[in-house]
Amino acid sequence: MTRAVVVPASALVGRPPDIDMTSELGSLVMPSPVLTASGCAASGRELDQFFDITSLGAVVTKSIMMQPRSGRPTPRMAETPSGMLNSIGLQGPGVHSFLEHDLAWLRERGARVVVSIAGNTVEEYTQLAKLLRMYDGIDAIEVNISCPNVADRGQVFACRADTASSVVGMVRRNTDPRIPVLVKLSPDVTDIATIAVACERSGADGISLINTLLGMVIDTATMRPALAGVTGGLSGPAIRPVAVRCVWQVREVLPDIPILGMGGIRTGEDALEFILAGANAVCVGTAIFNDPSAPARVHSELASALAERGFARLADAVSYAHRREPGMPDPVDLAPEEPAADDSGPLDATDGVADAVADGAPADPDPGA
Ligand SMILES: Cc1cc2nc3c(=O)[nH]c(=O)nc-3n(C[C@H](O)[C@H](O)[C@H](O)COP(=O)(O)O)c2cc1C
Repeated sequence: MTRAVVVPASALVGRPPDIDMTSELGSLVMPSPVLTASGCAASGRELDQFFDITSLGAVVTKSIMMQPRSGRPTPRMAETPSGMLNSIGLQGPGVHSFLEHDLAWLRERGARVVVSIAGNTVEEYTQLAKLLRMYDGIDAIEVNISCPNVADRGQVFACRADTASSVVGMVRRNTDPRIPVLVKLSPDVTDIATIAVACERSGADGISLINTLLGMVIDTATMRPALAGVTGGLSGPAIRPVAVRCVWQVREVLPDIPILGMGGIRTGEDALEFILAGANAVCVGTAIFNDPSAPARVHSELASALAERGFARLADAVSYAHRREPGMPDPVDLAPEEPAADDSGPLDATDGVADAVADGAPADPDPGA
């Protein structure tokens, strides 16, 4: 890793920073590390009025399914502090219309395209992969596994390592080997690193982090859930620290896998947090709704933020926050300290629990009971 040198922002005023912003997600090489987030820019057509979408890393399409779907009932959007909740569901025209209209337009326009796919069974994901294999102009597949698995009581595929990896394995096997398959994980799990490792072992070429968090708003005027679908996906700046944490944790266990980070990115400095935590590229999602030119702006702000810190190449900043320098405490040493044992004090209900766990004996989850 190249060491960063802080350059005062004043030294950069008036000239665009000359930074190599090339970003790689497996075999997908992009001139910019900034992509659109799935579901936040449809197929990029509307954004093209605000900036040249071919300058983006790629357009990530709304997740497509085999059949057309009308999505969930309205109201399906609610504002939240520093974010929004949506329960749009996977509304869309189905894969055949997508191929005929959206993919055809994106190809003609010359944009790089990441096609997001979703399904309710492993078979549906497999069928989509087989169908997409027959078309040119797809630069990567992103597998959205935050969908209910009808074969498992509607449990979301992303919530278990075995179901997540069975989808990834089938999509990988049925996709052109030259095209990277990214799997998009949900933060609503106990241990995202375990799920990421399972997906990597099943053939994922990259990990997208994160999808929305499950949330809920009650309308205090009607005293009913604000969304007709009751729960929805939380996005926007409110989720950014969760997303950065997920990127960090996955990068710690998978040092070499390409990571596409997202969650609440509004500015170049926000994007830089993800890059330093281990993302190779980032997506801008909710920010597009009030600033359609946000992806282009985030690209140039990120270039300036890198230049200010003395980086000549984006690639040198990837995972920079994980660096170990002489004299730095090991992360293990940063764990909260155990309180010092004091044999002379009065006994409390938890005394002996830690020793019992260390000895291999099961701890009583409620020692006071
Ligand atoms: C209105 C809306 C629709 C979305 N639709 C999809 C989708 O179809 N597929 C998917 O994988 N993620 C979808 N997402 C999640 C985003 O791609 C992204 O992971 C999430 O919103 C976090 O990024 P952000 O805070 O920048 O929006 C959607 C998000 C929003 C707000």
